[in-house]
Amino acid sequence: MARKVLITGASGNVAAGVLPQLIKEGVEVKAYVRDAAKGEKLKALGAEPVMGDFLDGAKLEAASKGMDAVISITPPGPTAAEQASAITQAAKRAGVSHIIRLSAVGAAADAPTDNGKLHYKTDAEIIESGIPYTILRPNFFMQNLLMSVPTIQAQGSMYWGMGEGSIGLIDVRDIADSLAALGAFGGHHGQIYVQTGSESLTFAEMAEIISEAIGKPVKYTAIPVEAVGEAIRGFGMGDWFAQVMMDYSRAYARGWGDFVNGNVEAITGNPARSFSQFVKEVMAPAFK
Ligand SMILES: NC(=O)c1ccc[n+]([C@@H]2O[C@H](COP(=O)([O-])OP(=O)(O)OC[C@H]3O[C@@H](n4cnc5c(N)ncnc54)[C@H](OP(=O)(O)O)[C@@H]3O)[C@@H](O)[C@H]2O)c1
Repeated sequence: MARKVLITGASGNVAAGVLPQLIKEGVEVKAYVRDAAKGEKLKALGAEPVMGDFLDGAKLEAASKGMDAVISITPPGPTAAEQASAITQAAKRAGVSHIIRLSAVGAAADAPTDNGKLHYKTDAEIIESGIPYTILRPNFFMQNLLMSVPTIQAQGSMYWGMGEGSIGLIDVRDIADSLAALGAFGGHHGQIYVQTGSESLTFAEMAEIISEAIGKPVKYTAIPVEAVGEAIRGFGMGDWFAQVMMDYSRAYARGWGDFVNGNVEAITGNPARSFSQFVKEVMAPAFK
């Protein structure tokens, strides 16, 4: 019988890479979405869209019934722990046999960012729930660099507040591959995997790799963390995001994310993609 998997945050960045793989593996996929048009797109891929908000516990419970696994993805934000709690508790009531959670690097009670503290709260609740779990805690996403495409295009510069810190950043496609493997084949119960890419790089080193791939000079300009906060507020993303990005910037600048491990390969069987591969396949096309 086909495995059945519910994925939340189904119209988001990470889920976009998970859904097609689950479907390809013959998994019956329910995609929890709140936007009808986005639901239709997921239906066209072969998933069954289930319309609902994270805080609608009854809908989440109905969607979770009969699932072999729930892949729990919520967006970053001040209410992330409540949203994730609704998913966990619904999965528990529905008797789901595996919860697979997208958490974040450094999730801890004393994490340097509120995002890390909220993820810790969620992870602890999942462990406490008694549902067999697998938790992924990826490092900084390579895809975050796509935010720099406009300034690279306009000024040949990318502006970040990470100082000279190195980061073992990870390609979102490797996280998607990991979630898809866990959803399609199960296993890895009771495991928490911090995940990184294959190398740790400074932003200056990233700029060099981008420069080579797009054939134009690219400079990394280190800006003060306060300027990062102002930029985030300027994008209309609000105070919570501004604070979180300032706190991540300080942490990464002091080398908090400067490590790599083999936890992508431990799940997918394939080594993590390099930053050069990401730039060639994902970032460079954004300049065309
Ligand atoms: N960026 C990084 O470097 C990094 C590193 C490690 C971990 N993470 C973690 O990765 C996670 C984010 O993953 P992502 O980038 O795939 O997220 P995302 O693209 O922001 O997707 C979030 C999804 O949640 C949906 N959603 C938002 N509010 C909802 C609500 N009230 N009810 C139902 N659905 C709702 C969104 O729907 P709509 O499409 O309708 O808006 C969207 O599909 C976060 O937990 C973050 O902490 C990020």
